[in-house]
Amino acid sequence: MENTEWGWSDRLKLSYGPMDETHVEFVTLCAALGKGSPDTFIERLDALIAHSVEHFEQENRWMEETNFPPVGCHKQEHDSVLEIMREVRSRYLAGETDLGQKLAEELPHWFEHHVDTMDNMLARFMIAWNKEPAPASAAGQTPA
Ligand SMILES: [Fe+2]
Ligand SMILES: [Fe+2]
Repeated sequence: MENTEWGWSDRLKLSYGPMDETHVEFVTLCAALGKGSPDTFIERLDALIAHSVEHFEQENRWMEETNFPPVGCHKQEHDSVLEIMREVRSRYLAGETDLGQKLAEELPHWFEHHVDTMDNMLARFMIAWNKEPAPASAAGQTPA
């Protein structure tokens, strides 16, 4: 059992600046979800959802712009977690307030796993791409 407070650490760093900056913000909002009064839970959840929409769109855009191969898989993880956040929001408002704490406990695990797998792969790809961008038309084309 861990009792230390969850927050940003080097363990989450992927050394791709634009992604790390966004992830620091996610971690701050996500950690705030489990703290504070139940009266402000929806406010804190809304802030996290608004951030996540932008965060995931940014990564989805990077994947589309670079023809990142596992785009489907990664995008699907984004969509699923957003769906869960929205579902918890509506069930919380309908009286299932215990789900709020559950989400606050589960999201850090989801995020760590997502960072270790999907985001890690994308960060490595983006670093390589920025050093040596492949021509946008290269995918699936044979030279004339
Ligand atoms: Fe991310
Ligand atoms: Fe991601």
